[in-house]
Amino acid sequence: MKEPDHLRDTKMSLNTGSGAVPALGFGTLIPDPVATKNATKAALKAGFRQLDTSERYRTEKEVGEAMHEVFEAGEIKREDVFVATKLWNNNHRPERVKPAFEASLKKLQLDYADLYLIHTPFAFQPGEDQDPRDANGNVIYDKGVTLLDTWKALESLVDEGRCKAIGLSDVDLEQTKEIFDCARIKPAVVHVESHPYLPEWDLVNYCKMNGIVFQAFAALGHSSEPNLLKDPVISAIATQVNKTPAQVLLAWAIQRGTALLTTSKTPSRIKENFDISAIPDDAVREISEGIKTRVRFNAVVETGIPGFIPKGK
Ligand SMILES: NC(=O)c1ccc[n+]([C@@H]2O[C@H](COP(=O)([O-])OP(=O)(O)OC[C@H]3O[C@@H](n4cnc5c(N)ncnc54)[C@H](OP(=O)(O)O)[C@@H]3O)[C@@H](O)[C@H]2O)c1
Repeated sequence: MKEPDHLRDTKMSLNTGSGAVPALGFGTLIPDPVATKNATKAALKAGFRQLDTSERYRTEKEVGEAMHEVFEAGEIKREDVFVATKLWNNNHRPERVKPAFEASLKKLQLDYADLYLIHTPFAFQPGEDQDPRDANGNVIYDKGVTLLDTWKALESLVDEGRCKAIGLSDVDLEQTKEIFDCARIKPAVVHVESHPYLPEWDLVNYCKMNGIVFQAFAALGHSSEPNLLKDPVISAIATQVNKTPAQVLLAWAIQRGTALLTTSKTPSRIKENFDISAIPDDAVREISEGIKTRVRFNAVVETGIPGFIPKGK
């Protein structure tokens, strides 16, 4: 019988010296608040020790309630869970960063965040509206602030000790290099869409060379078409190793040296997604080299407009 391995417990060191991030993370981009709270509790109970949210997802309150209940029950301690949230595009002006961060912490019922990310490199018109539009329905961008200005405001949060690490999301290689080269506190994490249909090898390799954790979101392809879970290479490996296609995809992400985020509101899938183990090296290579399909499922990197969030949220 095959010995169990420890793939699901993999941790990746952070270059800020503030510890390590569990490679297997649970995302909370779930439109329904009750489902978000239930899924977050189920994820913690299943064993996930990394949670990802954002002011834009409007799930911080439910994630906070779920964590609070689990911590109060004494099952898991706050310090055992790595919690990440993100600054939205309407808050890129440096003077808006700290209030936005404090509001996120308050909703999460936390004293500190393990990671704070700039959600996208696009600055929108500053104000309370997360989706500011002109009379023609076009997004109103803010030309008066650079990504570096916003980054410096995040550095101050680390200085103040309420945020252990900072990072970038929905950036490309050039934007990552630009901030990395100028930053006083280097990005600890780069969080972008990635899976076998969008492997982002150049960015993965740059992150590895510079001690940055590359974190893949939509690690299962977000249930979008073409469906990664039905890819013939993935299905064949799943049959061969007696795991599900989802478990194969999650193992591949960790075994190629990245962290990941997956999401489910279904209790059985949450357990399934934590119950992963290593696949053979030749299976990792086959996925990396044998799958030629290339698809981006989320267009947020092009405009800063979220791709997966249903209209009206
Ligand atoms: N920075 C950004 O711009 C950005 C954008 C998107 C996402 N994210 C983050 O990344 C997280 C993950 O992204 P994602 O939601 O696209 O993740 P994903 O895991 O690729 O896709 C989630 C979808 O897969 C289904 N699923 C989950 N486990 C499954 C399994 N074992 N078998 C079959 N289907 C399964 C879920 O269905 P059910 O829920 O019905 O079970 C859901 O429809 C988000 O929650 C968010 O935290 C960040």
